[in-house]
Amino acid sequence: MRFTRSVTTGLLPSLLYLAASIDASKYSSEYGLVQFANLGYSGTYYKVKSIDSSSDDSCTCELNRDEPYSFSGTNAPLDEELSVHIRGPLNLQKFAYYTSDSYSYGDTSGNWSRLAYYDSESGTADNVTFLANVGKNITCLGKALDYIDSDGISAADSSTVLGNVTLESNEEFTIMSNISCEDSGWDNDCGVYRKGIPAYHGYGGEVKMFLFKFRAPLQSDLDSSVDEDSTSYDLSAIWLLNANIPRTAQYPTNGNCSSWNSGGGEFDIFETMNSTENRHFYSTIHDFQGIGDIGTGIQNYGYLERTPDSVMMGGVVFGSDGVVSVFLSNSTTFDSDLSSSDVSSWMSAVVSADEEKVETLATIAVASSTTTSSSSSKGGAVRLLTEPKGFQWKLVSVLLGLLAMV
Ligand SMILES: *[C@@H]1O[C@H](CO)[C@@H](O)[C@H](O)[C@H]1NC(C)=O
Ligand SMILES: *[C@@H]1O[C@H](CO)[C@@H](O)[C@H](O)[C@H]1NC(C)=O
Ligand SMILES: *[C@@H]1O[C@H](CO)[C@@H](O)[C@H](O)[C@H]1NC(C)=O
Ligand SMILES: *[C@@H]1O[C@H](CO)[C@@H](O)[C@H](O)[C@H]1NC(C)=O
Ligand SMILES: *[C@@H]1O[C@H](CO)[C@@H](O)[C@H](O)[C@H]1NC(C)=O
Ligand SMILES: *[C@@H]1O[C@H](CO)[C@@H](O)[C@H](O)[C@H]1NC(C)=O
Ligand SMILES: *[C@@H]1O[C@H](CO)[C@@H](O)[C@H](O)[C@H]1NC(C)=O
Ligand SMILES: *[C@@H]1O[C@H](CO)[C@@H](O)[C@H](O)[C@H]1NC(C)=O
Repeated sequence: MRFTRSVTTGLLPSLLYLAASIDASKYSSEYGLVQFANLGYSGTYYKVKSIDSSSDDSCTCELNRDEPYSFSGTNAPLDEELSVHIRGPLNLQKFAYYTSDSYSYGDTSGNWSRLAYYDSESGTADNVTFLANVGKNITCLGKALDYIDSDGISAADSSTVLGNVTLESNEEFTIMSNISCEDSGWDNDCGVYRKGIPAYHGYGGEVKMFLFKFRAPLQSDLDSSVDEDSTSYDLSAIWLLNANIPRTAQYPTNGNCSSWNSGGGEFDIFETMNSTENRHFYSTIHDFQGIGDIGTGIQNYGYLERTPDSVMMGGVVFGSDGVVSVFLSNSTTFDSDLSSSDVSSWMSAVVSADEEKVETLATIAVASSTTTSSSSSKGGAVRLLTEPKGFQWKLVSVLLGLLAMV
């Protein structure tokens, strides 16, 4: 899901820190709802300025380090347009994207409007485009993004509605809106992207919600054989990326081919991390809010349960209060209009049934400074080999409790 093989050298645009202590006992506990509070910071990342994909030998990219892209505000940079990513084993049955004028955790007034919807049963696909890395493979970029057929894995000539398919381990696809990008170009609406791909906008908005209905069966229960030693064997996942990342390169071997290393942003909604914990969905933020190691990211130590034998429903809510909530609830509905009180009630119900865990992210504390770091792959995630100078860990974990819900 991230750069698993790349060795990159990048300039971290800013060095940030957050404060506190980690209580070992809170690792790896099951929760009904996991949250991150205080999401969003002021920072910069580098967008891709040019891509040469003409041949394996000349394959290279350049980031616009002269003009760092600045962002700030609630949920930033995850308030930008995001793409949705699905990794098997997974059978996606429904997907929906909503926006709202305003939503704070626990709100009982207000509403949400559905702006994109997929239902495998009825074959509905409103404002969704199914894509995957199934195009030409070039050294620095990997495989090109292209349309996929209803089977979820083969390339197609045009946008096609996904069928009721179960992806195997290691198989992935991407969902974008159906709004086409202008031509690739620094000043154009989607910026620079890889030549020849079907380029679409992601799903934008500071206040947004993504809902899913899906099964995540065990690979061993599927009627096929996948090498147990393969990278993502039995690691079902659903995550979000800054939409400019898959449009340039999702898995480049050259870190200059995407904004990811410099903090374009990733949010892992439901991610099984490794074989020992393959029934636990973790949630992680990969940007530079309060941390220097984007590969590890900001992890929430609580997890939601992956139930391989049953259909799961739930999703992620990015609130105007900077609280991101990730939940699984069988009460989830996918109506074209949803009231905020319904959304709040799904979460309060799982909270009262279970327990709640919140990681509070600190706001940006340290002024921009520049440092050089290198990272390499280890255990499937990029880690810093040398920690930036002056880097400090501080994590605050608080239980918000049910105050807002009663
Ligand atoms: C949803 O809320 C907006 C204001 O936030 C309001 O204009 C609109 O009428 C509401 N829609 C419904 C269906 O309640
Ligand atoms: C979709 O496929 C799954 C098995 O992969 C099955 O359980 C489910 O009933 C199917 N849904 C529909 C609507 O056919
Ligand atoms: C995009 O999806 C919307 C909602 O389904 C639809 O009204 C519109 O015609 C679609 N646009 C394109 C270009 O397919
Ligand atoms: C692309 O080709 C390279 C060799 O040039 C290979 O190592 C890599 O695995 C290929 N990528 C994919 C996704 O097939
Ligand atoms: C499709 O999604 C985009 C992405 O944010 C949104 O701006 C647009 O309004 C949606 N289109 C429709 C028809 O709802
Ligand atoms: C990425 O860009 C930097 C700055 O231009 C350059 O020093 C570095 O060699 C590039 N990395 C690769 C892998 O091309
Ligand atoms: C599996 O992932 C969890 C969650 O990130 C982590 O706590 C645990 O140490 C990992 N286990 C192994 C064996 O890597
Ligand atoms: C959700 O519903 C499914 C049946 O569709 C059931 O198997 C599962 O146990 C339910 N999950 C929870 C958390 O109640």
